[in-house]
Amino acid sequence: MNGKVINVAIDGPAGAGKSTVSRAAAKEIGYIYVDTGALYRAVGVNALRIGADTKNAEQVAASLSGISVDLAFENGEQRVLLNGEDVSLEIRTPQASMAASDVSAVPQVRDFLFDLQKNIAAANNCIMDGRDIGTVVLPDAQVKIFLTASPEERAARRYKELVEKGSSVNYKDVLEDLIKRDYNDSHRAVAPLKPAEDSVILDTTGFTLEKSVNEIIRIIKEKI
Ligand code: DC
Repeated sequence: MNGKVINVAIDGPAGAGKSTVSRAAAKEIGYIYVDTGALYRAVGVNALRIGADTKNAEQVAASLSGISVDLAFENGEQRVLLNGEDVSLEIRTPQASMAASDVSAVPQVRDFLFDLQKNIAAANNCIMDGRDIGTVVLPDAQVKIFLTASPEERAARRYKELVEKGSSVNYKDVLEDLIKRDYNDSHRAVAPLKPAEDSVILDTTGFTLEKSVNEIIRIIKEKI
């Protein structure tokens, strides 16, 4: 499009509140919100569906053959499409979370999803969240924020969210899953989770949602 498109990159570990905070901030400033984790989740769901071992990089790479993953925006809400099918709900199960973390370590998966993310950012003012947005996908984003919180607080938030959706999970499992995913996401060889050098680090431990959103908006306004 033109050179005036504004991109805000928000990265951070699982459960830091990236999606809730980014969605609210995007609405407030009139940008689209792009949740890139949904893309990795869709690839994970596809791998599970066809019975691939998500820890086997070769099987995961082969699972990409012939599939399409796309994002659609309806009334500002993102939907994720796997081979044209809306899988926005199916990607939110704990199994899909772990599968997403596994497949996201495979370089072919990251390559496969790269252009889609770049193209959306090039065409829209957006807040894009993920793990490598400021470091790899949008290294030229005008604003980069690394959103984090303590593992216990992140697990408590995730637990509450899952219980509200009717899941019968227990807190200890949620915390263990989250620590495992943090480890996977930050120790993989390609595009590991880490703050971009030019990012603002925002630790939201003890913050209300409203305070986190206000802080994000303040940082964005300060930078642009
Ligand atoms: O943000 P999320 O929990 O929906 O992400 C699911 C998984 O996808 C997460 O474990 C790490 C991976 N991911 C990634 O590697 N890079 C991104 N930009 C977004 C997510």
